[in-house]
Amino acid sequence: MLFVEELIRLENVWKSYYGGAVVHALRGVSISIFKGDFISILGPSGSGKSTFLHIASLLDKPTKGKVFFRGKEVSHLSDEELSNIRGKRIGFVFQAFNLIPNMTALENVELPLMIQGFSEEERRKRALSMLEKLGLKERIYHFPSQLSGGQKQRVAIARALIVSPDVVFADEPTGNLDSKSGKEVIKIFKKLNKEGKTLVIVTHDPEVAKVAKKIFYIRDGQIIKVEDKNKK
Ligand SMILES: Nc1ncnc2c1ncn2[C@@H]1O[C@H](COP(=O)(O)OP(=O)(O)OP(=O)(O)O)[C@@H](O)[C@H]1O
Ligand SMILES: [Mg+2]
Repeated sequence: MLFVEELIRLENVWKSYYGGAVVHALRGVSISIFKGDFISILGPSGSGKSTFLHIASLLDKPTKGKVFFRGKEVSHLSDEELSNIRGKRIGFVFQAFNLIPNMTALENVELPLMIQGFSEEERRKRALSMLEKLGLKERIYHFPSQLSGGQKQRVAIARALIVSPDVVFADEPTGNLDSKSGKEVIKIFKKLNKEGKTLVIVTHDPEVAKVAKKIFYIRDGQIIKVEDKNKK
């Protein structure tokens, strides 16, 4: 069998919030994310999807258990070290797009490259070609307020992809879109995975989840079932 690189591994991860009442948002989650995977995490509101995404994408640390990134344990790295890995290797797409309102589509997509210290010329070249790839050539000088929901999400996807991350995480990427734009975005994810991108989508919507090749069902902070279409 071919060796497939494991990008991220969670081992018996717990996440507990200690406010008034203790909430165990994740209760012993173990999962491996391999290069080329197209994964969806499907579960109802409050089941722990966003908490899972934050930990698997190194935005947050577990209360208990271990997280590995490309074979190295990262559970104990400093915030700065984690942010370094995220900046270079992990892309994010959010339900609310999270674009910067006073920057054009082009500037929004260039931003991660700017943070990584790329030259202006290189930034522009890469951002233009990425926006073109996502069908936004005619919209590069538009501000987010001048774009439709579907266009905003495509800009956000371009921004997530611009540093060529190892993996892209999306939290309810179609949650704010009408069904037509939602389908467009899903089509883009499918195409990206065909090209080899590793994708992890969390959603409450079975229609969205089913486009992935592996579906992990989450309930009350636990993975209760895995459906692997590669094995069918
Ligand atoms: N910062 C926090 N402090 C306390 N409890 C929290 C915190 N964040 C999340 N929770 C709780 O943890 C549980 C899981 O939350 P999470 O946001 O991961 O769910 P979700 O599946 O993403 O839900 P939704 O579909 O509504 O976005 C919920 O019961 C929630 O109330
Ligand atoms: Mg959520």
